[in-house]
Amino acid sequence: SSERDQYRHAIKKLLKEKNAVLVAHYYTDPELQSLAEETGGIVADSLEMARFGRDCNAQVLVVAGVRFMGETASILSPEKTVLMPTVEATCSLDIACPIEEFAPFCDQHSDRTVVVYANTSAAVKARADWVVTSSIALDVIEHLKAKGEKILWAPDRHLGHYIQEKTGADMLLWNAACIVHEEFKAKGLFDMKTLYPDAKILAHPESPASVLSMADVIGSTSQLIKAACDLPDQTFIVATDQGIFYKMQQLAPEKTFIIAPTAGKDATCRSCASCPWMGMNSLQAMYESLRDGSNEVRVEAELAKKAMIPLQRMLDFSA
Ligand code: 13P
Ligand code: SF4
Repeated sequence: SSERDQYRHAIKKLLKEKNAVLVAHYYTDPELQSLAEETGGIVADSLEMARFGRDCNAQVLVVAGVRFMGETASILSPEKTVLMPTVEATCSLDIACPIEEFAPFCDQHSDRTVVVYANTSAAVKARADWVVTSSIALDVIEHLKAKGEKILWAPDRHLGHYIQEKTGADMLLWNAACIVHEEFKAKGLFDMKTLYPDAKILAHPESPASVLSMADVIGSTSQLIKAACDLPDQTFIVATDQGIFYKMQQLAPEKTFIIAPTAGKDATCRSCASCPWMGMNSLQAMYESLRDGSNEVRVEAELAKKAMIPLQRMLDFSA
């Protein structure tokens, strides 16, 4: 049989032997997403990944995604072993928000409640009052605004700006962006919409404001998938990582999904939008990490204890 089949077979066997479960993000290779589904794991957005990892009974979690997802799993499940196909998979938001710069920034604005996106290091989370993912960011900020709190938001400025506009909350924004979503351009999207006038536009809130202003639905990966299923429309232009098409196409096979155009591309663009770090997760890397128990993610105990507080708040809020 093919190399692919051999890897799939070997991974399934190792999962059983090691009482391990796969937790994959929607942006990873469809090979990994389908493997997670076939073996009782989960394919999910970052909030659901965190919750599933904590609640499942497995001894070993194999997290296919980027580093912060593995770290979060490890913090929430200190008794479990967390492996990743690669520990090199970072995120431009995490990179652009180093704790050495972030901590003094928080100190300078000590009157503000610190809310950080899940796409951050454990150290940044440990400095925060709240951790949020894109699926609950709006609701959490509404909640804090109602209590009269002023917010320090990091790191994604597009998501921060979107929430600020929606809620009118007093938010001081850190200046970082997702390199994948930032490439979506309103001009190309406008041209594409002319080609597909009946299409609905689905956008992740890490996209720039000009793109979000054209969107029919704005939400986390799970929320966009739900919209793709629930809306009666036939055609969707999607502004997020194209890995999401695996699940959209699976749940709505009769519908058409088109990737939104990215920088420098016109309405004929069909590729692009693909997170290079998510792409580092492969069948081979997953197999090797499971076989060898390599790429274990550990968060130092003191740090994990501190980061657990805002992460617990996140899970309680969305329970
Ligand atoms: P979700 O929480 O919507 O899955 O987003 C995670 C992410 O990295 C988006 O780029
Ligand atoms: Fe980070 Fe963007 Fe990749 Fe998500 S898609 S992991 S936000 S770089």
